[in-house]
Amino acid sequence: MNPNEPNESSKPAFFTKEFTHNPYPVYEMLRKEEPVFRLMFPHGEFGWIITRYEDAVQILKDPRFSKDMVRRYGADNQSIFSNNMLFSDPPDHKRLRGLVQKAFTPKLVADMRSHIQDIADELLDNLPSQEKMNLIDDFAFPLPIIVISEILGVPLEDRDKFRIWSNTIIDASIAESAELFEQHAREFTDYLTAWFAKVRQDPGTDLISQLVIAEESGQQLTEQELLGVVSLLIIAGHETTVNLIGNGILALLEHPEQRELLINQPELIHNAIEEMLRYNGPVEFSTSRWALEDIEFRGERIAQGDLVIVALDSANRDEQQFKDADIFDITREKSSHLAFGKGIHLCLGAPLARLEGEIAVSTLLNRFPNIQLQADVNELEWRPGMNVRGVKEIPVQLK
Ligand code: HEM
Repeated sequence: MNPNEPNESSKPAFFTKEFTHNPYPVYEMLRKEEPVFRLMFPHGEFGWIITRYEDAVQILKDPRFSKDMVRRYGADNQSIFSNNMLFSDPPDHKRLRGLVQKAFTPKLVADMRSHIQDIADELLDNLPSQEKMNLIDDFAFPLPIIVISEILGVPLEDRDKFRIWSNTIIDASIAESAELFEQHAREFTDYLTAWFAKVRQDPGTDLISQLVIAEESGQQLTEQELLGVVSLLIIAGHETTVNLIGNGILALLEHPEQRELLINQPELIHNAIEEMLRYNGPVEFSTSRWALEDIEFRGERIAQGDLVIVALDSANRDEQQFKDADIFDITREKSSHLAFGKGIHLCLGAPLARLEGEIAVSTLLNRFPNIQLQADVNELEWRPGMNVRGVKEIPVQLK
């Protein structure tokens, strides 16, 4: 089977609705037959897709694979989203991560618990209806965007703009969005530039104020990097957690016995979140790296400059690593999943995302233990790009 050519076989291929709905049969075949797979993207570029767990760990930790966008595309070809820790190599990576790390330590994040709980309660109190909702728009999206907006100090009422801009940036690999990408990246840049100017006049105690002060005080951060870091936090701060909550609740609704188990044993919530991250993780292809030299890997020759992508959702279903990998089991012991990546770029927001996920899922089940999917699961529309994995809308009946 060639997964690059749709309709060649009965199995689903990349870039099809079937694939976005359920990529796992393709991944399983690749792990068995072509674990380092040369995929042609619709826009003409190709990338090596890494699907086995063991290989994923190796590549994510290997400094011969660079994430540095400036090194790859040149300083003149950068967008708002390029100059940040996620797209830089050491030593810049350490400097940029160090500037915001303090705001996301497990201790500081744990202190946010009761406030995040209040936000979750308030969202559910103020639902347009107590009978039904769209889980994504009414709950899974607002919760993390409110939290990250408060940490950064940006106005909550602009959250729908952030959503539109970041959706476009995240789904940029879809060919027809090239112009839209330019437009939204410009609007997002203008918005943040104006916001930084306002903060410079009257800094507060929020994270953007701290970064603006760091930028003004000298060598720590350039204006481009300020834009890069703040846009990264806004985008990464909600684009992923919305799908942890969405994909996670969907998995519970599809597995009623697991839902019953969690309702009867709420102390399993921590395990349940780890299993949700493993079973249908929010980050699929946003792990691009470029080879800094020619590298032989599992019999393939990855040439200097080649794009390499670790398919995290495939690694997390690898039978060599996880027994009964396709089974959703919230009692699974010690999950060493890769949903937050590995190595120096390991997700900075993981403690926050886990806490938001725990609070969101527990609160929803507590309030609405009879929650049901109000659609055929096969009819749900999944996000079209391959960077993040999530459903566009999840209509649910609450009572
Ligand atoms: C990096 C996943 C939530 C901020 C990453 C990476 C992954 C990831 C896989 C590494 C990508 C790579 O190696 O190429 C997730 C998932 C989340 C989540 C699955 C939710 C369930 C968050 C949140 C924040 C955040 C809430 C912000 C507060 C970041 C940052 C990086 C990052 C800043 C870059 C770290 C670095 O390059 O050193 N995330 N993330 N993430 N994430 Fe998250």
